[in-house]
Amino acid sequence: MSSALFSPFALRDLALANRIVVSPMCEYSAVDGCATDWHVIHLGHLALSGAGLLIVEATAVNAQGRISRECLGLYCDENEAALARVLAIVRRYSAMPIGIQLGHAGRKGSQRKPGDGRGTVPASEGGWQTVGPSALPFIPEWQTPQELDRAGMEAIVDAFVHATRRCVRLGLDMIEIHSAHGYLLSSFLSPIANRRTDAYGGNRENRMRFPLEVFVAVRDAWPAGRPLGVRCNGTDWDERGLTPEDAVDYARALKDLGCDYVDVSSGGNSMAPIPLGPGYQVPFAQRVRSEVGIVTMAVGLIREPQHAEAIVAEGQADLVAIGRGILNDPRWPWHAAEELGGNVNVPVQYARAATREGIHQHFALRTGTR
Ligand SMILES: Cc1cc2nc3c(=O)[nH]c(=O)nc-3n(C[C@H](O)[C@H](O)[C@H](O)COP(=O)(O)O)c2cc1C
Repeated sequence: MSSALFSPFALRDLALANRIVVSPMCEYSAVDGCATDWHVIHLGHLALSGAGLLIVEATAVNAQGRISRECLGLYCDENEAALARVLAIVRRYSAMPIGIQLGHAGRKGSQRKPGDGRGTVPASEGGWQTVGPSALPFIPEWQTPQELDRAGMEAIVDAFVHATRRCVRLGLDMIEIHSAHGYLLSSFLSPIANRRTDAYGGNRENRMRFPLEVFVAVRDAWPAGRPLGVRCNGTDWDERGLTPEDAVDYARALKDLGCDYVDVSSGGNSMAPIPLGPGYQVPFAQRVRSEVGIVTMAVGLIREPQHAEAIVAEGQADLVAIGRGILNDPRWPWHAAEELGGNVNVPVQYARAATREGIHQHFALRTGTR
């Protein structure tokens, strides 16, 4: 029996060797939005993992859109040059497709990075005024965002377009727009954060309007052959917030606009607890996939190869994103290939380590039972 997880997949002109995606993960290791040597190490080793696709962390489209001072950005020439250097090194040793997640932190910006305590960074320490759909802080102790007016929203759409043009020049293979976890686009979608009374607030259609405007603008600036996906919330886990029905409607609208996949996550618009457990977000991806018929990516505590295999084989999702599991075990796809009998691309330098038998083969080594 061949493995579903290790079957190839295509998004527009982009061919993926398998269904395993390295989930975007903020590293809080940039300087003024510029990637550093840490990104060479971090992205470099994940690019040797054998996954079908690597998505670079949430990358801010303007400086105000960073979650923290240490977040990656793509809003100036220096940012672009720094990422170009990292990508050139990584690509020298890996043919893995590399995408990027573009986003704006909205009212959750100007925060201290993990490990530096919690809370808003004041202007005296390099913090900045945040923005949001409404002048409501995420929690009372955090900064109150400035409510965006139409000019401010247009400037953010422009920033997404400019960042997209930088992605074109960087030769990135795909873009994922971040509209999950309570960041700017997510906060427009969620009634918890969006209390606007204009055409961008109120009913679901209005709350979707700004994220969809961003999607259209990015799609227009991005080459037709390259895929554009969106990360969204399957639920806010909060009775005041987004529901699976919202996710279905949003995915349907995105599909109509040419979205290539939806990556279904959850939470982050409030402090509501998230009932964590293996595959806790998969049912939301499955529902979107079956009701909308759009390509879906499932994510969230998918740690066992057999679990990932079942998600794809049973049609719960088309792609499986792995976050913490692949940080913990950067050869997760190799081990999954061994268990499931799949193929992974392995650099020739590591070929002798790639199978239990230790048989040396060149690139595209076959692992597992033979
Ligand atoms: C260190 C770390 C950084 C993260 N940064 C991002 C990010 O930049 N963008 C995003 O959408 N999700 C981010 N996430 C969430 C992951 O992409 C993923 O959705 C989540 O961890 C659940 O998957 P997992 O259980 O496989 O880790 C991050 C998670 C971790 C652990």
